[in-house]
Amino acid sequence: MNYTCDRCYGLLEVIHHDIKDTWIDGNREGVWRYKPLIYPGIEDKFIVTMGEGNTYHHRSQKVSQWVGMDEIFMKQEGNNPTGSFKDRGMTVAVSEARRLGAEATICASTGNTSASSAAYSAMGGLTSYVLIPQGNVSRSKLAQAVAYNSKIVNVPGDFDRAMDTLRQAVKTDPRLYMMNSINPWRLEGQKSITFEIMEKLGHVDFISVPAGNLGNTAAMGKALSELKSIGALDEIPRIISVQAEGANPFYRFWKGMTKSVVPVKADTIATAIKIGNPVNWKKAIKAINFSNGIVTSVTDEEIMSAKAVIDASGIGCEPASAASVAGVRKLLQEGSLDRKDRVVSVLTGNILKDIDAIKGTAGELTFQDLMDMAEIPASKSVIP
Ligand code: F0G
Repeated sequence: MNYTCDRCYGLLEVIHHDIKDTWIDGNREGVWRYKPLIYPGIEDKFIVTMGEGNTYHHRSQKVSQWVGMDEIFMKQEGNNPTGSFKDRGMTVAVSEARRLGAEATICASTGNTSASSAAYSAMGGLTSYVLIPQGNVSRSKLAQAVAYNSKIVNVPGDFDRAMDTLRQAVKTDPRLYMMNSINPWRLEGQKSITFEIMEKLGHVDFISVPAGNLGNTAAMGKALSELKSIGALDEIPRIISVQAEGANPFYRFWKGMTKSVVPVKADTIATAIKIGNPVNWKKAIKAINFSNGIVTSVTDEEIMSAKAVIDASGIGCEPASAASVAGVRKLLQEGSLDRKDRVVSVLTGNILKDIDAIKGTAGELTFQDLMDMAEIPASKSVIP
């Protein structure tokens, strides 16, 4: 399988010819509701689905107040079958693997891609291999991949190193079908986040996403440009791509601090976006330019403060997800947003994805640690 262009070595992109002006299939729900703009030609017999998508748009006074907006919507991608937005891309990529007759899937991952790839591969009857950067993946995500029966390779080093190993592996073994966002079908599925926002909320001014490998940012731009091209969009929402300060090569480039996206050694508490060499940066630039978007960067402290408020509101998310809300707060304070703007922040992963990162903590939490954070002393009445 080829994932890059032979001439320019850039990543391949899915181009839909003969796009009709219908983008909604009213007989379906979730990701496949947008089949006409995602994969119109695939036969149902190949499709592996677990009811992904159709996620809730939360509003919370507590979070809005903390951010400083009159109102902010949070799209809860943690409600997906394996607990993250990755399921949207995986349903499409695994379906394509089945159509191609692949025997096995493979991915490198900071955790969520591996959990999702493992589950969808299992459901589709394919063997799943995942490459995990040693010690850089949360325990709960790794536990998912193990439970879904994936074959796990522990790669010494960080995610970017695991990604290099993966690119070599798929080059030499054609039986393996790649599940990372280098695979353009992943992005086709992830476009459904934007389609849902547009269908359910109508006009919005900004959509913010946490940015690691930049697949989501890229998919969002493609979705908006396709909606525009069929006349289904009047005003284009502006994409806000939020990086963690310790893993922000895309932000540095966008700010003019570097001439290109120069890889960095990534370091952030938000392990899901601990990525120093994002593969989708060229597509992401296109997305930011098309939507007149903004790239910003937030500290681990800002990420964890946002997470604490989102968690305490009852919504909950993993650290990387909270970056999307922290980024909106920062841009509002800088004057790039107005408090009346209609903003949606995408919460990419479930609160249970990283239970070692709650209330500003990092490191393995024991049962006793958790009790110490919350327990009422036994001598008091149970409900004071
Ligand atoms: N949020 C979460 C929870 C993620 O797991 C990821 C990526 C992102 C945001 C960033 O999205 O790469 O499209 O910019 N996780 C990947 C993984 C890299 O392996 O699970 P992106």
